This record gives sequence, C-alpha cells and structure tokens, in this order.
Amino acid sequence: MQRRTWIALALAVALPLPALAQDAVKIGLILPMTGPFASTGRQIDAAVKLYLAQNGSSVAGKKVEIILKDDASVADTTRRIAQELVVNDKVTVLAGFGLTPLALATAPIATQSKTPMVVMAAATSSITEASPYIVRTSFTLPQVTLGIAEWASKNGLKKVATLVTDYGPGIDAEKTFKERFTLNGGEVVTDVRVPLRNPDFAPFLQRVRDSGAQALFTFVPSGVGSALMKQFAERGLDKAGIRLIATGDVTDDDILNDMGEVAVGVVTSHHYSAAHKSPANQKFVEAFGKANKGMRPNFMAVGGYDGMRVILEGLKATKGAGGDALLAAMKGQVFESPRGPVLIDAQTRDIVQDVYIRKVERVNGQLYNVEIETQKSVKDPAKSK
Ligand code: DHB
Repeated sequence: MQRRTWIALALAVALPLPALAQDAVKIGLILPMTGPFASTGRQIDAAVKLYLAQNGSSVAGKKVEIILKDDASVADTTRRIAQELVVNDKVTVLAGFGLTPLALATAPIATQSKTPMVVMAAATSSITEASPYIVRTSFTLPQVTLGIAEWASKNGLKKVATLVTDYGPGIDAEKTFKERFTLNGGEVVTDVRVPLRNPDFAPFLQRVRDSGAQALFTFVPSGVGSALMKQFAERGLDKAGIRLIATGDVTDDDILNDMGEVAVGVVTSHHYSAAHKSPANQKFVEAFGKANKGMRPNFMAVGGYDGMRVILEGLKATKGAGGDALLAAMKGQVFESPRGPVLIDAQTRDIVQDVYIRKVERVNGQLYNVEIETQKSVKDPAKSK
C-alpha cells in the first residue's frame, strides 16, 4: 500500500466523522425495482432523482440521502426492509410503496416508530386510515373512477360490464363505478375480477363479450394495460362494437404509445396525463425525458415527484426534524404539480386534485391521453361521505 493511502486510512480511523453522518437526512425509498411491477419503481426512482437534481439535495444545511431498496412487490419484503430502514438506518421518512399490499404491510411500522410515510403510488382509498403517519401523493381509485362513471351515463351507455384486478384498488374501482353508474340509471350486466399475479384475461373477456354489454369499464394496475388491450382486440371485443372505458391506469403513459390502434378512442378518467397542457408539465415532461433516454413520465412518476416536494418542503419547515413535526409540515401543503393544482388535505392526509376525462388520440404520430374535460379539486369521495 502506498504511504499516502496509509495516511488517509489512519486519518479516517482517527478522526471521527459523526458530523457528516448526522448532517444527512435519510429517506428510505422502497419500490418494486424488479418483478412484474418494476415499471412503477423505475418511474418513481427517475422522478425522485429529477426532483433532487432540479431543487438541490440538501435542506436546512443537511444533505438529503435517498436509500433506495427493491421489494420486488412482495409485502413481507417491504415490511422487513422498512423495519431495517427505521431501526438500522434511522431514516426520517419512509417513501415509495408501489402496490396497496406493500403500503398496508408497512403502515404499523410507521405508526410504532412515528415515522412519516409518504405513499407515492398505492391507491386503495383505505390506505391513509392504516396509519396516522401516512401522507399520500398519488390518488385514490374512487377519486378517479367517479368521472368515467358520470361520463358513461352522459354518453348514452346503458349496459356496461366491469373487469378489475382482484385486490384493493380494483374493488374500490368496481364499487365506485357500479354505485354511480346505477344511480344514474345504468346497469352493470356482469362484473369480473382477475388475479393480480399472472392474469390471463381471455376467459374473463369472453364472459364480457357474452354479457351483451355496450362497453367494458376496467381497472388494472400500472403496466398491465398492454396485455389487457392486446387480448381485448384478439378476442374481437372491439370488432363486436364493445367500447372500452377505464381509469387512466390502463392507458398508462409508460406503455400507451406501444398499444397501437386498439387504444385509439379509449376514454378514461385520471389525475395525470403527460399531455396535460401547462407550462409546469411541459417542463417536467421535457426534463424527465432528457434525464431518462426519452422516457415519458406516467402518473407514478408524478406521485414520486410530488412526494419529494412534500417531503423536502416539510423538512425545510422543520429544519430537518422528522416525526410529528414533519408530519404536521406535510399536511396542508398547496402547490402546482405537473398534474395541475393540488392540496394535501390536512384532515385525511390524502391528495385533493383535478381529475380529467381523456381520450386516446394520435398527436404528431404518438398516442396520448388528450384531456377533454376537467373536474376541479376532487377529494377522495370514499372519505367525504
Ligand atoms: C395500485 C397499483 C397500481 O399500479 C395502480 O395503477 C393503481 C393502484 C395499488 O396497488 O394500489
């Protein structure tokens, strides 16, 4: 070993550097970076990095350190990682949570350790009730489903079939759609649920085809929409004149452009489209693409980007302190997101946001969810009853 290296090593051992370690604020970011929902992790990770690159990675003189961990969308893994991040790494915030079961598995750890937990993706309505330390920057399925249910009735649909993924968000979507559509005089002629893991849509789509429905309302999680669309066309549902309507999870911007002709004309409701016309969004989409080989941000990316905003502004207000002070500083934040104006409701800790009715169209040769109507400041309806 060279003499200089020895000196460096000796200094490193001799000089305690607690100042460095203590002056970092750690954020434990748990995402599915591998497995079937890796696109959610990839989008959120990229958005978190972009937010820090644009806004600086220190607050109140402390460096913000992101500890990214892959849970491969397995709830037991999420729980174990969260425990380690809190106990060993002493993180100030837990963030991420790509699917509902992963958020629910972590909620008790947030409560016990009084660690604010920012849900950037998962969207079952009840998640925020699982811990008073949860703040959500994504959306809820009831929040985005009402719009398309209203649209269906207003646009002459009378008989609709539903197909949802069989877990929290799918059940929220099915329930919300049914309630609102039947309230407006519509009929749900068949309701099918497909498994979360390895769904084969064919038999379910056949049932929809045989049901006499004029349209299919559907929810599947981010990334899964391509397979559904493909089988919708292969089973000839489009040729049979059955319309597809959905939440925007299905026409996810991450995969929409590869769906082809079958997607054109699909109407959805959702809180984010990469085609949202605002200077803030244009800047976001451009910067995101530039930093990620042309990748288009989807609604998961926006949940991650805004989640970082809520965390860093909260930390600024507390001068880097966590716990109850940080939680309080996250509640009530109002800001302009790439999706539009948003508020973190101080009572529910859920995000209040505009929801858009969109139609898939070709714009300059690319498929986009083009916004055609706006519902202003929509709260999660499941909590405002
Ligand atoms: C959830 C996951 C998704 O990918 C999505 O689009 C909506 C909800 C969830 O598990 O909560």
